Amino acid sequence: MRSPVLEVRDLSVHFRVETGRLFRRDHYTIRAVDAVSFNVHSAETLGIVGESGCGKSTLARAILGLVRAQSGAVVWLGEDLVGLSEEQMRVKRREIQLIFQDPQGSLDPRMTVGDIVAEPLKTFYPSMSRMQVRERVQGIMKLVGLLPEQINRYPHEFSGGQCQRIGIARALVVNPRLVVCDEPVSALDVSIQAQIVNLLKDLQKKLQLSLIFIAHDLSVVRHVSDRVLVMYLGRIMEVADRDSIYLQPRHPYTRALIESVPIPDPVKERARARRSLEGDIPSPLNPPAGCVFHTRCPHATDACQREVPLLETLENGNQVACLHHRELAPVLEVSDELEEGQSAQVETDDTSPSGA
Ligand SMILES: Nc1ncnc2c1ncn2[C@@H]1O[C@H](COP(=O)(O)OP(=O)(O)OP(=O)(O)O)[C@@H](O)[C@H]1O
Ligand SMILES: [Mg+2]
Repeated sequence: MRSPVLEVRDLSVHFRVETGRLFRRDHYTIRAVDAVSFNVHSAETLGIVGESGCGKSTLARAILGLVRAQSGAVVWLGEDLVGLSEEQMRVKRREIQLIFQDPQGSLDPRMTVGDIVAEPLKTFYPSMSRMQVRERVQGIMKLVGLLPEQINRYPHEFSGGQCQRIGIARALVVNPRLVVCDEPVSALDVSIQAQIVNLLKDLQKKLQLSLIFIAHDLSVVRHVSDRVLVMYLGRIMEVADRDSIYLQPRHPYTRALIESVPIPDPVKERARARRSLEGDIPSPLNPPAGCVFHTRCPHATDACQREVPLLETLENGNQVACLHHRELAPVLEVSDELEEGQSAQVETDDTSPSGA
């Protein structure tokens, strides 16, 4: 078994929010991330999925020290990052890089691509000569599928997919060991999404990177992930290897997520008993007692309203937090179709400056 590079232990991030008017202020605590523990191994891709507001971005930001953890540990190569000073954390951010959801919005429109990609080099390697910086920047542009001669262009001259390539180049230029990708394809056209997912997958292999790949949708992470972690209202519901999570999901929430993904083939889609997840996510200001998923769970019992299920480790090393997971039927039927759907996504050329 490879040793973990990152160990997140019992990590909680709470936000205190005020509501009400001048004389009637109420204070609430949002448990955006609540006692979360998991590992990421060397050269492994961990997918993190869950609906909007379940705490994925907060978790990513807490790993990078961009938001303060209430409690718990983020152990990076044996050292706990929680509690490090801003200056100490800055050094670690060479090793752990973040890629954002909105590629265009995260690039400074007044800077050339060359300056954008070179910026982290100037921070972490101030003694590099201009020539060395240029060479490194052009090398990394090539690696991510951009043309080195585009170095003096500006972000507005590029498509969304190409801007994400620039964001990836900027993250990789300093040779990180872990890259946290926070919904790197959600803002892109579906036809472009597969290209960026494939690019990240190739780069992960080539550079032996560890990746955390965050997405709303299970079908997006299927292609890249070795393991998948499913979150709901700040908590981990299930962590399993890629095949188990699709073929034998143990948690009712994971099953609901899989069952609600549409199959692109209309005949198969009609023939399938698709059930979408019923009800809204409860307010994070007032989460349900017991299992946080019980208000939407078709298998919930009285016990689920009282007991918080522990994240139980199964014989195969996968983990699930459900009081009733042993009673659920082991196999879902839709999983092969999902695989077909994802790989059927269009491959179009995204390398021309005027492309989509
Ligand atoms: N700075 C903040 N102050 C107060 N509450 C916050 C703050 N940042 C996030 N939250 C709350 O924490 C919870 C988790 O938010 P987060 O952005 O981490 O979710 P997410 O899973 O990334 O959602 P999405 O899929 O929409 O990006 C939400 O209820 C959100 O409103
Ligand atoms: Mg988010």
